[in-house]
Amino acid sequence: MSSSVYLLALSLLLVIGKYDDVRLFAYGVVDEYGRDDFPAEFVFGAGTSAYQVEGAVLEDGRSLSVWDTFAHSGFPLYNGANGDIACDGYHKYKEDIELMADTGLEAFRFSISWSRLIPNGRGSVNIKGLQFYNDFINRLIGHGIQPHVTLFHFDLPQILEDEYGGWLSRKSVKDYVAYADVCFREFGDRVLHWTTINEPNALALGGYDAGVTPPGRCSFPFGEFNCTEGDSTTEPYLVAHHILLAHASAVRLYREKYLVMQHGSVGINLVAPWYEPYTNTPEDVKATKRALDFNLGWFLNPLVNGEYPKIMKKNAGNRIPTFTKLESERIKGSFDFIGINHYTTAYVKDNNNSLEMENRDAIEDMEATLIYSGGEVIPSQFLVTPLSLKKLLNFLKEEYGNPSIYIQENGQVQRSNRSLIDTPRVEYLHAYIGAVLDALRNGSNTHGYFVWSFLDLFEMDGYKSSFGMYYVDRDDKELARYPKLSSQWYGDFLKGKNPNGITLDMKVKNYFYY
Ligand SMILES: *[C@@H]1O[C@H](CO)[C@@H](O)[C@H](O)[C@H]1NC(C)=O
Ligand SMILES: *[C@@H]1O[C@H](CO)[C@@H](O)[C@H](O)[C@H]1NC(C)=O
Ligand SMILES: *[C@@H]1O[C@H](CO)[C@@H](O)[C@H](O)[C@H]1NC(C)=O
Ligand SMILES: *[C@@H]1O[C@H](CO)[C@@H](O)[C@H](O)[C@H]1NC(C)=O
Repeated sequence: MSSSVYLLALSLLLVIGKYDDVRLFAYGVVDEYGRDDFPAEFVFGAGTSAYQVEGAVLEDGRSLSVWDTFAHSGFPLYNGANGDIACDGYHKYKEDIELMADTGLEAFRFSISWSRLIPNGRGSVNIKGLQFYNDFINRLIGHGIQPHVTLFHFDLPQILEDEYGGWLSRKSVKDYVAYADVCFREFGDRVLHWTTINEPNALALGGYDAGVTPPGRCSFPFGEFNCTEGDSTTEPYLVAHHILLAHASAVRLYREKYLVMQHGSVGINLVAPWYEPYTNTPEDVKATKRALDFNLGWFLNPLVNGEYPKIMKKNAGNRIPTFTKLESERIKGSFDFIGINHYTTAYVKDNNNSLEMENRDAIEDMEATLIYSGGEVIPSQFLVTPLSLKKLLNFLKEEYGNPSIYIQENGQVQRSNRSLIDTPRVEYLHAYIGAVLDALRNGSNTHGYFVWSFLDLFEMDGYKSSFGMYYVDRDDKELARYPKLSSQWYGDFLKGKNPNGITLDMKVKNYFYY
């Protein structure tokens, strides 16, 4: 999911007067380029996730996930919407894959629904679920589209949540690895790119601190809305810890049991806004470094160096678990690539009082306030700050040893709208792909780029906002898909046609509604 959006929900402040500055530094990236400027092996694609697109939630043996439960719990931002039908992707996938092929996608990123494949969470495999994903993968490959599979995208089987609290329990590690084993075994002869977990940093904070993503846990006074259960001060750290262990175990399994036969690669995904200091005082500059440690270092430091960032251990104290020596050794290096979901930039303001609080969540432990643009939970548009993506990729190169990167999500949110002329999205994609090219030319080890999202999906506010390159007509029983301008632009770019054929008058348009 566009889950940097989830992080937006954590800390909102309206900053007027900043936008002009942002726009000045926004477009310092290459403007004229074509597909040929990227290496041939670099892949371009688009993505979706299971719960957001499939629907058919009770069909062919699928059991419920925590996302089904959350969507039916009256969560205010969903406005009564849910993924029961979503885009009916479960039935319309053949048509969708035709559209992908028409667009010229070289790769497609999607997730497998754990509770469709293994309805009891562990144990027997649902043959109908297996068939669905086999057909899906075969059909992609038949159209020359590489499948890039995410194993877990926020939708833990509800049965495991009920049994032992899902990711809160260490028992989740064993069940997750058994599920991953089934996926590697059944699909790994054709799937070469595996992502273990989508946005665990957003899941830990959204699901267990702010209570805005499934399973929607939080504790007073930290949640955005009232949660019935949770502990925002400890649970995010615990969940992140178990996810890291689960990820590393799945990678170990792949390397020991499948790599020799299948030759694939396995990575993890993180949501990564870029951070800029709110002012250039030393306090805000230091706070920006802390924010990067708390968002990215939380996972990347264990993955690259075998331990949590020092500042996190210091500020969270005994609320952040510790790795044994063996765990630390096993987590270190347990990735072939890092998937990055990047949308926008936040300003970071030092908050040096927050450590004085007795009860602290991760945001207070960070001693900083994140300031995103706009005063809405989901802004109508993200600021177009492509230079930030370039800085982020440079940062990953410098700070974490230039790991192999896939940009797994990037895209422009807009209010869902029947208008198919999504010019702001075209401008956004054009600018950010340029930023990726600049970063590549400066030595970034990036290997792919995926637009979020292929079509309009069930999002963080139900169906009110959308990121899709295809419009889904929700008033139509058939949920017909219509190409937006962005799909045409992206298709032309991918096919090497008329790369700058759509002229955008940057000066006239004011895309920012705030
Ligand atoms: C949360 O619960 C309190 C008391 O139970 C209530 O007064 C308040 O309106 C609730 N807030 C929201 C956002 O539902
Ligand atoms: C907190 O920050 C303010 C201004 O940024 C500074 O004046 C003050 O000394 C700081 N306090 C501590 C305890 O560091
Ligand atoms: C839909 O988009 C069109 C064209 O960009 C715009 O004029 C219109 O106001 C939008 N409608 C809504 C409801 O946002
Ligand atoms: C290239 O990357 C280095 C860091 O590795 C950075 O300092 C420099 O500013 C980058 N140059 C450009 C043109 O982005």
